[in-house]
Amino acid sequence: MVQTAMADNPLMLGLPDEKRPEPFALVIFGAHGDLTKRKLLPAIYALYVQDLLPDNFAILGQSRTAKTDEEFRNSMKDAVIKYSEDIEFDENTWERFSKSLYYRAGDSKQLDSYKEMKVTLSELQEKHGTMGNNIFYLSTPPSLYMPIVKMLAESGLAYSRKTTEPAWPRVVVEKPFGHDLQSSIELDAILHDVLNEHQIYRIDHYLGKETVQNIMCFRFANSIFEPIWNREFVDHIQITSAETIGVEDRGAYYEEAGALRDMIQNHLMQLVALVAMEPPISLDPESTRDERVKVLKAIRPFSPDTIDDFAVRGQYDEGFVLGNKAIRYRDEKNVSPESCRETFAAMKLYIDNWRWAGVPIYMRSGKRLAKRLTEIAIQFRKPPKLLFDQLGGSVFNKESQAEAPNVLVMKIQPDDGISLKFATKQPGPTTQIRSLTMDFRYGTAFGSRTPSAYERLILDSLTGDPSLFARSDFVEASWKLYQPLIEHWEKAIPGKSTGKGRVVEHRPFPNYDSGSWGPAESDEMLAVEGHVWREL
Ligand code: BG6
Repeated sequence: MVQTAMADNPLMLGLPDEKRPEPFALVIFGAHGDLTKRKLLPAIYALYVQDLLPDNFAILGQSRTAKTDEEFRNSMKDAVIKYSEDIEFDENTWERFSKSLYYRAGDSKQLDSYKEMKVTLSELQEKHGTMGNNIFYLSTPPSLYMPIVKMLAESGLAYSRKTTEPAWPRVVVEKPFGHDLQSSIELDAILHDVLNEHQIYRIDHYLGKETVQNIMCFRFANSIFEPIWNREFVDHIQITSAETIGVEDRGAYYEEAGALRDMIQNHLMQLVALVAMEPPISLDPESTRDERVKVLKAIRPFSPDTIDDFAVRGQYDEGFVLGNKAIRYRDEKNVSPESCRETFAAMKLYIDNWRWAGVPIYMRSGKRLAKRLTEIAIQFRKPPKLLFDQLGGSVFNKESQAEAPNVLVMKIQPDDGISLKFATKQPGPTTQIRSLTMDFRYGTAFGSRTPSAYERLILDSLTGDPSLFARSDFVEASWKLYQPLIEHWEKAIPGKSTGKGRVVEHRPFPNYDSGSWGPAESDEMLAVEGHVWREL
């Protein structure tokens, strides 16, 4: 069905695409919202185009805005045309697809609305043969999660199944899973009151990214990397997730969240877990999720006395990003002019286990930075004897990380791929050392389109594979780790010394220019250990 120009590529031969869900009815709460337009519908349409959906399915959008099925179909068509990145739009295919699209207006806080939904779902079951396999996607503001789940239960639309029984009905929850440790435990309690864990799919879209999935393959499908993937060989790890965009029209949400809750507590912690985990005993979903959780549990907790040495925050000022003038965070829509919300956060973590003891893991994430880029860099130790150290004058020796030539970079986006940096002799009569990289790029190697994270995750939620979803103990372990920092940052005002760290004195906000790499405090945090952030 889909245009497979890459079918001739020998690397793509023999790849099975046998991953078809059973018939289903998918209810999207918040169908009028941005996520549905930008991500969900384009992803579902892409699955349809690739023939990855079953013949019998129905999608029911629900939100408060009154609309007919036809109006919903038209607005979704516009969204698919606008936001489908590399799936060609085809009018006939859309016609067939859109026959399964429905809409009903309803108030997700009113029980009556669920009773009506139940009737609609029975009609759709009759018409489309969905077999009563209902999956509910919560794409609403988080404040509605608890009421929706409760009402789903009260109306009989959601109920708990034993782990030995098929995991229908299912609920998909978008992040944030709570606002802090307490609220995440409360949300979880409600979810578990109604459903068993195997019916709950907590989406962290980073886990659906192709390169993120490749971390495990790279580590455990090869034999040459694992022996050096530990404290004996690794000097430190840097994880960067940099964005050029500001908070756009999400000022109100961001004022509540900030970089720590928005990116670090979830997306970046999944990256840390994948890069640092032990090999799972098998690829079954629980074994891999067990190993990811163990990493979080081994991370050294923040200590009240040194917390500012381990975490810094920033907020963007005005500046220029990619040549365009950018306003400061405090001037964004729905943001307080005195806001102390962080738009940048950087951490230093230690995983206190046998593999990683003493290896710092530095993470940073921020908005309005110089470049859009997400990567994990494994910085290996310098050679034990620096034979070439005295040569001077070479490009290699002038580099800031001159003593440690080997860096393995997993590029999550853009230009997904992997590169390995190493030192080599420059041709010529003298021994001049240069540093070079060996590069692997997904795009050029496989010549195929990379499925979007949502495509993969929606498909997995439909087939009932929870491997790439956040399990409740992972979410809780992560909130537990960050709770002291959340509380510390709530209390401490940027610019006023807290006396909680030896090194870092936070300057008042805003403390970094749009288009820079974040506040100076983030560089200082690494400098005290003789490290520098990679120049990207
Ligand atoms: C979302 C955050 O989860 O991830 C956004 O809420 C952020 O603030 C986005 O922009 C980044 O995702 P990606 O896939 O562009 O790295």
